[in-house]
Amino acid sequence: MASTPPIARLANKVAIVTGGARGIGESIVRSFVEHGAKVVIADIRDDLGKSVCEDIGVESVCFIHCDVAVESDIENVVNATIDKYGQLDIMVNNAGITDEPKLSILDNEKSDFELVISVNLTGVFLGTKHAARVMIQKCKGSIITIASTASITGGSTSHAYTSSKHGVVGLAKNAAAELGKYQIRVNCISPYVIPTTIACKFFNIDDTSSVYSNLKGKTLVPQDIANAAIFLASDESGYISGHNLAIDGGFSVLNPSFGLFSWPEK
Ligand SMILES: NC(=O)c1ccc[n+]([C@@H]2O[C@H](COP(=O)([O-])OP(=O)(O)OC[C@H]3O[C@@H](n4cnc5c(N)ncnc54)[C@H](O)[C@@H]3O)[C@@H](O)[C@H]2O)c1
Repeated sequence: MASTPPIARLANKVAIVTGGARGIGESIVRSFVEHGAKVVIADIRDDLGKSVCEDIGVESVCFIHCDVAVESDIENVVNATIDKYGQLDIMVNNAGITDEPKLSILDNEKSDFELVISVNLTGVFLGTKHAARVMIQKCKGSIITIASTASITGGSTSHAYTSSKHGVVGLAKNAAAELGKYQIRVNCISPYVIPTTIACKFFNIDDTSSVYSNLKGKTLVPQDIANAAIFLASDESGYISGHNLAIDGGFSVLNPSFGLFSWPEK
């Protein structure tokens, strides 16, 4: 029996994915296209971004160079998307960086802190602002920011990264409160560790490393984040706004210091 093709959950929708040239963003781009969306990749890595487009097919996805920390770049991506497709339904603020892991705050330089904030928080502010600018005119849209479990807990990443990820959740709540009257939804997704380039650099691991998981025997992969992004981008999540969806197998709600569930197995 012939298998049934997947239902296109994002048919007739247009999306921008910042940082879509690799890692979690690339997975979101590929999944959105599989579900019928037209996608614009906005990234600083031109070669990687263009090769993803060629691999997927240029009729469904295109690349525009964009540094999310530069307002004119974000403005240009949003305007170019409207020029090409006439609409913007989904904005995924995914681009992000880390700084070096320095355990003591005394070793942290102001310039390093500000660089992380400029991409991870200011970049999300600019993406949200310019997406809202065009979505307000159509009275619809879904803005999704890739935060992190570092938006919920402390002590797992650098001061700058943790601050930036807590910040984007606050921004999403404020934007959700303001933009609800235009039927624009704003949500965050907070992944646990996935060994992409950014995580391998920070945690000094490689993509074959096994990472602790609260869900025994399960490993988080970029497709898990893409699945959540499809849900929040689609009409299936039509009444969800201001939410921070942790994709962490329960990591952010457990407190291992009690050890209650750490009994030796029989
Ligand atoms: N991998 C993890 O463990 C993990 C966990 C939680 C959250 N996240 C978040 O997920 C997002 C994606 O991370 P990833 O793991 O795929 O990392 P990655 O390094 O593989 O990909 C990040 C992408 O962002 C792009 N980028 C970086 N700076 C940019 C800028 N100024 N303007 C435009 N694009 C820029 C990079 O070129 C790259 O394509 C980030 O926001 C990250 O903080 C990652």
